[in-house]
Amino acid sequence: MHKEPIIGIDLGTTNSCAAIVEDSGNVKLIPYKGGEYTIPSIFAIDDKGNELIGYEAKRQWQLNPRNTVYGSKRLVGRGFGSEVVDTMKQVVAYNMRPGKQSDVILDVGKKEFALQEISAKILGKIREVASNYLKMPIKRAVVTVPAYFNDRQRQSVKDAGKLIDLEVVRIINEPTAAALAYGVGKGLKEKVVIYDLGGGTFDVSIIEIRDRVFEVKATGGDVFLGGIDFDNAIIHHVLKDFAAKTGLDLATDPVAMQRIKDLAERTKIDLSAREEVPFNIPFITMTSQGQPLNIEMKFSRKMLEQLTNQLVDRTLQMVARVLVDSGLSTKDVDEVMLVGGQTRMPIVQDRLTKFFGKPPSKGVHPDEAVAIGAALYAHSLQDDTNLRIQLLDVIPMAIGLEKAGGAFHTVFPRNASIPNAKQLLATTSMDNQTELAVRIFQGDNELVARNDMLGEFTFSGIQPGRAGAAQVEITFDVNVEGILTMRARDPASGREMKTTVRVSNA
Ligand SMILES: Nc1ncnc2c1ncn2[C@@H]1O[C@H](COP(=O)(O)OP(=O)(O)OP(=O)(O)O)[C@@H](O)[C@H]1O
Ligand SMILES: [Mg+2]
Repeated sequence: MHKEPIIGIDLGTTNSCAAIVEDSGNVKLIPYKGGEYTIPSIFAIDDKGNELIGYEAKRQWQLNPRNTVYGSKRLVGRGFGSEVVDTMKQVVAYNMRPGKQSDVILDVGKKEFALQEISAKILGKIREVASNYLKMPIKRAVVTVPAYFNDRQRQSVKDAGKLIDLEVVRIINEPTAAALAYGVGKGLKEKVVIYDLGGGTFDVSIIEIRDRVFEVKATGGDVFLGGIDFDNAIIHHVLKDFAAKTGLDLATDPVAMQRIKDLAERTKIDLSAREEVPFNIPFITMTSQGQPLNIEMKFSRKMLEQLTNQLVDRTLQMVARVLVDSGLSTKDVDEVMLVGGQTRMPIVQDRLTKFFGKPPSKGVHPDEAVAIGAALYAHSLQDDTNLRIQLLDVIPMAIGLEKAGGAFHTVFPRNASIPNAKQLLATTSMDNQTELAVRIFQGDNELVARNDMLGEFTFSGIQPGRAGAAQVEITFDVNVEGILTMRARDPASGREMKTTVRVSNA
């Protein structure tokens, strides 16, 4: 084994997984105690103040819902005031509040955590498991993120690594990683669709594989569409049914909610294999007279399909858009690859079969492909490697700046290839202006207010003069990881200008 191996990590919303390429060239998933290959992405603090991560955290979450954090990947890079955070507040029992930059702070076990600190805890656990298994310290990793993550969300994962001194040598997109797991070393010439429906996020990428070259043609997704939403559809149905029968609202009782949530997920998973399953929870609450009440229901596969139909619709609408963006039709697609646990739901496979006119391929393992692809890519980055992979990826959403009146000026359109650089000339709008502020956004809307702000850049040191006399040449660089940096230069003197960035979470 390499002295300083780079491992591949799939940092998932619900489950995380790690893998490594051994000296023999074989990829190996890193096993956790008892032969499991995935670790729940859950962090908790118990009433004695102990930190619990993974299975230890999951085991106690019914009894300690307020101090158990799950699904936090959905909150990464979000402002406290955002819609996403509002929605999450309604479904989780842990407390969220605004931080200094109106980012999200979580209260767990009387301590406060920023989101990158929670990611760091989970990354730390994976590293610990990997170090124990490989019997050597792990300092470097390739970490995957949803293709639909924006610049800020990607930055946040890098920051999480820094917090525990784990160098995130490269961030790659989850569907791209899955394509590597499928195609490396096979000498393929194919166009594949990677449909990745996980616990929290949906991604779809169209990737052309030409032996060692993996070129993403187009990507799209929704960072707020995944298995959790299928569970929530069941939960809402159960709450409504219970309220109709008893007049009681269970949503205000965190322990009852946690029990319902647990059974909702298990019911959903069982319905992938069976047509009907009971949904019974004894002593869920009591009447005001102190009489115990139970939940006694049944769920059929049909019912679940009806409750979640529009979620599947949304994924297919995105698949259609990505096809249009790539300039391909369903007939041009050689294989449709399923990734993510939620793709085990039969209706998802049926609908994809109808859409593409052929059944999806079973070419990759839905839970493991992303980590395996990350490990392969990690191996290709080792100094003495003989594995050569060329990744040509794209940005998922346009990046641009704010024009007068709040309009969005696109600098890079969505699906622009990365790495990529563009230059732009800006000018002063007032006499004797010595500073120029530029606000950068990412998103596909024509109005900046509907997109995510990446930051506000101020370029100072402009020579005083008449409005419009001074020019500033701004260079936008998006690196291979989809992360943006900016520089400015005075084109007359060639002098680099000082740039300060203020990130706001508005
Ligand atoms: N047999 C099954 N039928 C339906 N859903 C399933 C099945 N098995 C697992 N799931 C669901 O898959 C989801 C987890 O998938 P996965 O582990 O791929 O997500 P993740 O990688 O953690 O999330 P993401 O990629 O969105 O960050 C959970 O919502 C789980 O309930
Ligand atoms: Mg995943």
